[in-house]
Amino acid sequence: MKQNLTFAVILLAMLFMINAIPLHKRKTEFLKCSDLFPAPLDVTAMTPDPIQAGKPVTFTISGNFTEHPITSDYHQDITFSQGFPYAAEFSQDICSDSSSRNIPKCPVTDYNKKMIIQAPADLPDNYTITVYVWNENDGSDWLGCTQASVG
Ligand SMILES: *[C@@H]1O[C@H](CO)[C@@H](O)[C@H](O)[C@H]1NC(C)=O
Ligand SMILES: *[C@@H]1O[C@H](CO)[C@@H](O)[C@H](O)[C@H]1NC(C)=O
Repeated sequence: MKQNLTFAVILLAMLFMINAIPLHKRKTEFLKCSDLFPAPLDVTAMTPDPIQAGKPVTFTISGNFTEHPITSDYHQDITFSQGFPYAAEFSQDICSDSSSRNIPKCPVTDYNKKMIIQAPADLPDNYTITVYVWNENDGSDWLGCTQASVG
């Protein structure tokens, strides 16, 4: 029994060493969610990287919507998920039909936008960040989506 425990501890330590070295240097990598989404969308910067629980994070998001112009029906969303039980969602307008608001007038085709959110205080060790542009009124209408696995 005691021997098993020692073995387990050594194994854990080894796993930790293997993981620890690249983990701190690895930049969070965003990849296209799937080919189903018509427009390219990317997170060109995320600061800080890694994200600190409960602290602000700045995402720089860019996309080319030349062929699928963004109207005021669309929002830019960021979610944190770990399967279904854990989820935090942040949503922001991209453009507006009215020129009085301090966001661009719709439609928008090329954009490069910063979105600052407060990272969830209960951020787990591993989670998925999904950044997407979608029409909230029509849940199946997603224009672009990019995703990163953390942890
Ligand atoms: C955006 O996409 C259009 C059509 O696919 C292309 O012609 C244009 O060069 C792209 N713009 C940028 C900035 O990549
Ligand atoms: C992610 O974290 C959960 C809870 O901390 C753990 O049960 C799970 O094994 C982890 N998954 C991976 C791939 O590390």
